[in-house]
Amino acid sequence: MKDLLIKQTEKFVRNELGEDATGHDWYHVDRVRRNALHICKEERFGDPFVIEMASLLHDIPDEKLNKTVELGRAKLDSFFKTISVPDEVKEHIIQIIDTISYKGGRKTKLKTIEAKIVQDADRLDAIGAIGIARAFAYGGKKGQPIFDPAVQVREEISLEEYRKGKSTSIHHFYEKLLKLKDLLNTETAKKIAEKRQEMMLSFLDQFYQEWDGHDL
Ligand code: ADP
Ligand code: NI
Repeated sequence: MKDLLIKQTEKFVRNELGEDATGHDWYHVDRVRRNALHICKEERFGDPFVIEMASLLHDIPDEKLNKTVELGRAKLDSFFKTISVPDEVKEHIIQIIDTISYKGGRKTKLKTIEAKIVQDADRLDAIGAIGIARAFAYGGKKGQPIFDPAVQVREEISLEEYRKGKSTSIHHFYEKLLKLKDLLNTETAKKIAEKRQEMMLSFLDQFYQEWDGHDL
């Protein structure tokens, strides 16, 4: 039964996200699922079914993929009407998806271990080599520059400002990516993040060397 539900959910998500090129593609979702199940196994905590379902569905209502937040939520709700999942499990999955986003996650305290694990899994995919690739893919799609030394580095930038392109992909490392390692919930994710953090720092180092021509 659970296997069938997972298959149905995979099919729905593949269909919804297949064409996306902003870093929210199916392969991102698949990596988040794999990361999350790995953390769950290592930590010996959490319900793997809830974790897998929430991982698969986590980007469906994302503001960046829908005209409005409400439309995104409606998409998720109508999918749930087509599969037979007990109400309390469905509520839990929706609650995880609503609370894990970076913006929501900083204000809202995560209630369950499953939410913490899916959030860590999503954050791991925003750092390291994959994180670097996703940042430039996203920036390119938004028409944001790779880097501009005249742009100031700021602690936080609003979604509106992102949309207006008032940042650069390199700035995004300081605004978000380099901070993620200290926001992780589980020891398993923290361990994985160490190498990914080093990778980003050495990338930035080399980037500035080349930008300034110091390696010539
Ligand atoms: P997630 O779905 O992983 O929680 P987001 O929806 O915020 O994260 O972003 C999706 C991907 O796009 C991430 O890899 C993130 O780092 C990247 N991204 C988001 N905003 C920017 C930005 N302003 N510049 C560059 N990359 C960005
Ligand atoms: Ni995601």
